[in-house]
Amino acid sequence: MTKKRVDVWVRNYLVLISVLFIFVFILSFIFSKELNHKTLLVYSIILGISIIIADAYPIVYFPERENQAEITISLALTLAMAFILPPLYCIITEAIANTVDEILIIKKKNFSRPKEWHKILFNTLYLSIVVGITSIVFHILYSKRLPFLSRHNIVALLIGGIVYFLVETFILFALLSHLNHAWFWQFWWENIKAVKLEFLTLFPLGYLIIFIYIKDFWVAILLIPLFIAIYFASQEKVQIIDQSEKTLYALAKLEDDKFPDTMAHSLRVRNLAEILCEKIGIGSKEKEIIAKAANLHDIGKISIPDIIINKPSKLSEEEFTKIKEHPINGADLVSHLTYFENGEKYIRYHHERWDGRGYPEGLKGKDIPLGARIISIVDSFDAMISNRPYKKAKTIIEALEEIKKEGGRQFDPKIATVFVDMIKKLINDKKIINNHEEFEKYFPKDAKIDK
Ligand SMILES: [Fe+2]
Ligand SMILES: [Fe+2]
Repeated sequence: MTKKRVDVWVRNYLVLISVLFIFVFILSFIFSKELNHKTLLVYSIILGISIIIADAYPIVYFPERENQAEITISLALTLAMAFILPPLYCIITEAIANTVDEILIIKKKNFSRPKEWHKILFNTLYLSIVVGITSIVFHILYSKRLPFLSRHNIVALLIGGIVYFLVETFILFALLSHLNHAWFWQFWWENIKAVKLEFLTLFPLGYLIIFIYIKDFWVAILLIPLFIAIYFASQEKVQIIDQSEKTLYALAKLEDDKFPDTMAHSLRVRNLAEILCEKIGIGSKEKEIIAKAANLHDIGKISIPDIIINKPSKLSEEEFTKIKEHPINGADLVSHLTYFENGEKYIRYHHERWDGRGYPEGLKGKDIPLGARIISIVDSFDAMISNRPYKKAKTIIEALEEIKKEGGRQFDPKIATVFVDMIKKLINDKKIINNHEEFEKYFPKDAKIDK
């Protein structure tokens, strides 16, 4: 989304979201009549500040992840706000709170690229739309004359929550599925599975805030110590995850410093493995572990003498035996990292073969962990299409033939078929073929498609 190459689809989508925002904003006027502005202003300020604080101190935060996954209780707060404040107040409070938050985050990370400003605009518009529409639904359906727990009002509250959930995920995942080259429904479903815990815990919390507000707004303040306790309790776990992430990152960097070529290979393997995981339908959490393992699959090579790694001619038997130790060395390196046990297995077994003739243990078929079977295919493919001093690279089409042929011998036959289709789609995608940067994400820069 840089200025030079703003994707037309993305630009149109931003325009559409802006129009939708204006529409919801106008609509919110109609549903925001006869208001006690003084009280509402106080509520707005309190809710707005709470949202800003909640977003600034997320409970779970993964700084190394591309999409900056984090869990904050602001979802509960905005759901409650959609009920407590009239639509117009909601939209304005959300827009201001979100902009402040985004600026705080940018300051923290020192971003200055224009891309970030597109992001702020999109986030602010879409979150305001979500909360605005939800608030309108609440204000149409909820009856103040009936008790809070009457059947009518419970249904109203549930519908409001569902609307919130659907509008938020549809607007966001339409954009993200486009950016990730994924089918909308598949992407939506995968990600819903990944964030279900967040929704399942935060929606009830939102309703709890609403319930307390109905009794007395000021009693809701009593929830603050509870939130602070949750925050600190979660920090310890976050620190452990964070340390693991940093260690993985440092290992990747180490590999990059020592063998820049290996690292470029590892990055391509990672990128292709990620798409392959999506095609097979692997959940996003597992996908991330596989991607990280793919990135580090050859990390064990750092303990093998440089002369062997960089040898321009074919390796002797003895040298090859030494090279064969790298999956074990690599797995041992990451073995103590909490939350990366599966990653360790994927690194250990990335040179196993479907027919049991691989190394280090000669595992066979489905005994080889799925992530390792995935990495194995992508890794071999990249090696085939890369030029080495002692061997000429195959073309992509030739390599695909080879992968197909080796399905059931070297590779898991089902995954091999999916992989071949996936690469065929990539090389037919003009956006990838005509763009160096995109192309080199997946293929070596001098790779040839066909003769
Ligand atoms: Fe390897
Ligand atoms: Fe490799």
